[in-house]
Amino acid sequence: MSKDLSIAVVGSGYVGLVAAACFAEIGHTVICVDSDEARVHMLLEGGIPIHEEYLPELLSRHRSRALEFTTDLRRATQESQAIFIAVGTPQSKSGNADLSYVDAVASEIARSINDYKVIVEKSTVPVYTNEWIRRVIERNGVPRELFDVTSNPEFLREGTAVADFLHPDRIVLGAETERAAAVLQQIYQPLASGSYYALANAVPGPRREGDPPPTLLTSTKAAEIIKHASNAFLAAKISFINVVANICEAAGADVEEVARGIGMDSRIGPKFLRAGIGYGGSCFPKDVAAFRHVAEQMGVNFGLLSEVEKINAEQKRRFFQKVRSALWTLRGKRIGVLGLAFKGGTDDVRESPALDIVGQLLQEGCLVSAYDPAATARTNEVLPPGPQMHYVDDPYEAAQDADALLILNDWQEFAELDLDRLHYTLRYPIVIDGRNLYDPATMLAKGFTYLSVGRPVMLHARDAAVEHRLP
Ligand code: UGA
Repeated sequence: MSKDLSIAVVGSGYVGLVAAACFAEIGHTVICVDSDEARVHMLLEGGIPIHEEYLPELLSRHRSRALEFTTDLRRATQESQAIFIAVGTPQSKSGNADLSYVDAVASEIARSINDYKVIVEKSTVPVYTNEWIRRVIERNGVPRELFDVTSNPEFLREGTAVADFLHPDRIVLGAETERAAAVLQQIYQPLASGSYYALANAVPGPRREGDPPPTLLTSTKAAEIIKHASNAFLAAKISFINVVANICEAAGADVEEVARGIGMDSRIGPKFLRAGIGYGGSCFPKDVAAFRHVAEQMGVNFGLLSEVEKINAEQKRRFFQKVRSALWTLRGKRIGVLGLAFKGGTDDVRESPALDIVGQLLQEGCLVSAYDPAATARTNEVLPPGPQMHYVDDPYEAAQDADALLILNDWQEFAELDLDRLHYTLRYPIVIDGRNLYDPATMLAKGFTYLSVGRPVMLHARDAAVEHRLP
């Protein structure tokens, strides 16, 4: 691989920690900085604060050699050639991205600069943030020739973040000077040249030595917009298929067949066409709102994004309506819930549609028994266990004596349940699947009443008398 660089990554959240571990993995010397002492202490002690495939392997491979953790941003800045800002950009009350963490970090970097540095925005930020960072650094008296501010958006998904980082569809590098672009290109050279993929212990993924990711060099503003527009487009794709699912329900068609048919058009593509209970997580809801605000501030009407948000909220409401229609009354009903995280493969419950639905069930007086392979501890923090809310250790325990089982996220484990066992574990064999993990005909044949999204309701003969109440 190429000559290594010294890199500082500021922020040890999902993006920062994964980026730091992956930069070490491709041969660089990395200092990961966080102002949260407890988190840094945990990382120094060998702890791993997030659930992410391959992250434990990478951290143990590089910790205390190419990768160190500290709270000392000044030292990290001075010892590094490139400084990646990967701190949170939460949604402010107005819907705008709150850039106060970015501002604070930029000022601190400015006070520490001792020689030429490339400062890289890695956090998702509105267009023009780059210029603000530059201004903040200049205001702190740093001469223009001692730094460049660039933008290198990330496209990693939680749960598969490490593989997404090391096997990206594309590498977007936004820079205004050749000197800065050259540093960024050198950082990504092991991926862009394909040399990383030839290593015996490379993290597996779709890229090969002969099929490395393309690099796209752009202006910093274009790079900033690429990130927001990508997330907004994907969110729109999900809302689109969710409305199509609702049409399918009304027409008696199967949205999975329709999605397959649409996705076979290479101009559209099959990904992100899974109908469900709406998108969640720390990115899509926040980024759609932020991009809509950016448009507004620039006098551009992006009403399409307001519709995307409305459809997403409506999708959760419709699902809840399905639960009500299948069970008639809810007070006192025992509901098994599979899935708490905003999707399978992660422990993150931020903006999780599953938690919205669980919250509504509790409000309506249901007794909830919930299981998620990784997100129980995090859910506990926002929904503490109590007389109505129980957390259990496996899917069958959640289903035990329940009036219905709800599937709210898409862990692989939920798609592989022993249906005979599930049938006799439930009090009433009713499954309401918000992620379309099962084939409706199979569920009916196994004796279930099965409701899913955008597909015909499978009503077991036992429940046929209430058919008129079902959506
Ligand atoms: C998303 C993007 O996919 C990443 O490219 C981006 O880097 C990241 O945001 C970010 O900005 O940091 P992530 O939030 O981890 O990644 O999750 P996704 O896998 O994109 O799923 C988002 C939500 O959409 C989940 O609730 C998921 O269940 C839902 N979804 C996804 C659907 O309902 N249908 C689909 O077909 C796909």
